[in-house]
Amino acid sequence: MSFLLALLGLVSLTSAASTADWKPRAVYQTMTDRFARTDNSTTSPCSTKDGLYCGGTWRGTINQLDYIEGMGFDAVMISPIIDNIKGRVSYGEAYHGYWPVNLNALNARFGTHQDLLDLSDALHARGMYLMMDTVINNMAQIIPNGTDPAKEVDYSVFDPFNNKDYFHPYCKIKDWNNFTDAQLCQTGDLNVPLPDLYTEHPDVQKLLIDWAKDAIKTYSIDGLRIDAAKHVDANFLKTFTNDIGVFSTGEVLEGAVSIISDYQAHYIGSMPNYPIYFQMLQAFTMGNTSALALEVEAMKQACTDVNALVSFSENHDKPRIGSMSNDTVTAKNVLVFTLLFDGIPMIYQGQEQHLKGADPPYDREAIWLTKYNTESELYQLIAKLNKLRKHVNALGSDYFDQPTHTVYQGASELAFSKGVEGRQVIMMLSTQGSESGAYNVALSNSYNAGTEIMEILNCEKYTPDEFGSITVAMNKGEPRVFWPVKYMEGSGLCGYEIKNVTLAQLKNGVASSASSVIASSPLTTALASLCLALTSIVMIL
Ligand SMILES: *[C@@H]1O[C@H](CO)[C@@H](O)[C@H](O)[C@H]1NC(C)=O
Ligand SMILES: *[C@@H]1O[C@H](CO)[C@@H](O)[C@H](O)[C@H]1NC(C)=O
Ligand SMILES: *[C@@H]1O[C@H](CO)[C@@H](O)[C@H](O)[C@H]1NC(C)=O
Ligand SMILES: *[C@@H]1O[C@H](CO)[C@@H](O)[C@H](O)[C@H]1NC(C)=O
Ligand SMILES: *[C@@H]1O[C@H](CO)[C@@H](O)[C@H](O)[C@H]1NC(C)=O
Ligand SMILES: *[C@@H]1O[C@H](CO)[C@@H](O)[C@H](O)[C@H]1NC(C)=O
Repeated sequence: MSFLLALLGLVSLTSAASTADWKPRAVYQTMTDRFARTDNSTTSPCSTKDGLYCGGTWRGTINQLDYIEGMGFDAVMISPIIDNIKGRVSYGEAYHGYWPVNLNALNARFGTHQDLLDLSDALHARGMYLMMDTVINNMAQIIPNGTDPAKEVDYSVFDPFNNKDYFHPYCKIKDWNNFTDAQLCQTGDLNVPLPDLYTEHPDVQKLLIDWAKDAIKTYSIDGLRIDAAKHVDANFLKTFTNDIGVFSTGEVLEGAVSIISDYQAHYIGSMPNYPIYFQMLQAFTMGNTSALALEVEAMKQACTDVNALVSFSENHDKPRIGSMSNDTVTAKNVLVFTLLFDGIPMIYQGQEQHLKGADPPYDREAIWLTKYNTESELYQLIAKLNKLRKHVNALGSDYFDQPTHTVYQGASELAFSKGVEGRQVIMMLSTQGSESGAYNVALSNSYNAGTEIMEILNCEKYTPDEFGSITVAMNKGEPRVFWPVKYMEGSGLCGYEIKNVTLAQLKNGVASSASSVIASSPLTTALASLCLALTSIVMIL
């Protein structure tokens, strides 16, 4: 059995990763220049305001994989790898990777071909996936400020798009809500115009698809993020994602449920879940719980598969949660929601350290300055939540196909349930903040009457009454996460050892093969629960 599992594991790493392969995973998003340096420095200065290269590399990322894996992530998304503009404008350089010039060369600031191969190997050796952020909408060039991009851009320097015929004629986007305008015109400014690729043209399409296939093969890439997907011809988006044969998620930066569901039905199966993101901010930074509860239901109704979307709460384009609220408990509620809600969670580097950068470029802090603190409260919280996700997956990946539903909405609390009936995860979130005191919330419709359940963040047990209702003890705005005690074994949470267990074993209460015979005697069971209880007490202390 375990040989078979190992074999399956091997197969899934060597063949192209599908949406189903990605669903149980959790992704950590790095910006290579700002994540880790080859010299492992934790003091090298980096001014976000200046926007210059700060020295992060793929080699540096390899050196910090323990830090990422320690939070339980099993995939990493790296910023774009290809050669970018070499120069500098008043607001900085191409450290972010979104100013591409040459598809056929790597960005040498991040390392060599061998470094990138080694990063890919190092991730795969840990059973982790590699996702690559990818720009297919445009190239980039610096022109003298104030000159006319329509005349000034020198197309001959682009590789392979070395001619203006590969591009749409110059125009600046005027109406970002008009998709024709957004797709035919440019997103750049007058200093760094971003010549817009003529992605309707078969020659451009072939070059982009061939390049992507080659990069995926060369570096064994398991998935792509497609930058500015909203600005790429939608039909090409469909062709591109179908042809490259790995999971891709495309940035369609839109809050409207109808737009995202329409894209999912017709053009691309996965996108960052921006509609939920905006309402999540409403809930946790502005205290409007009804907006999020409504949006959860609306997305579920409209989308063909909410679980194929990417769940996030911070990224390199949006102000961090810490810039909107200094309260760590706000950050905690947001993280619980992000990691346990529908879809593939993607956590942006630094969220685990409660960084406070607001709009770009301030949200692109060098992570090494936090000294990769694995003791930070949010780092530890993420580790727990990823443990839970992994354990839940071990008992059945069907969990990741279940849509979340709202089970409670009060003036300041929200509770969501996700999973197969009987082994659902329920999260109770609060928007009250750490200043609030202790109070109880009655949650009817939790688990079946008499099912013992564990609140996994504090390791406290609850038992639903005869109507399946529990009284949740809230305090200081802290989130609560519930899971049946019956299925705790093997989870690595609340004193339970990490172990390979199956649903069948836990259902029958015989997880520990040989010793289970002995363990089933009432005395040893009682002793075992006493030990667990003691461990839990120690953990709380
Ligand atoms: C679980 O099983 C896998 C595959 O057989 C193995 O690699 C891993 O070490 C096991 N984990 C534990 C904690 O026993
Ligand atoms: C950086 O860390 C890696 C991995 O821990 C180590 O192998 C390497 O020698 C370190 N490099 C320097 C310059 O300290
Ligand atoms: C470009 O020139 C305009 C007009 O002279 C000025 O307002 C703007 O700040 C300049 N932008 C940069 C990035 O230098
Ligand atoms: C949308 O933009 C296109 C191209 O810029 C333009 O021709 C069209 O009139 C716009 N549509 C609307 C409804 O404004
Ligand atoms: C909360 O959000 C809902 C849904 O978007 C909206 O109708 C309502 O007006 C908002 N309430 C407040 C107090 O802003
Ligand atoms: C967080 O605290 C800092 C330092 O006291 C303050 O400057 C900042 O305005 C606060 N941010 C918010 C969102 O309250």
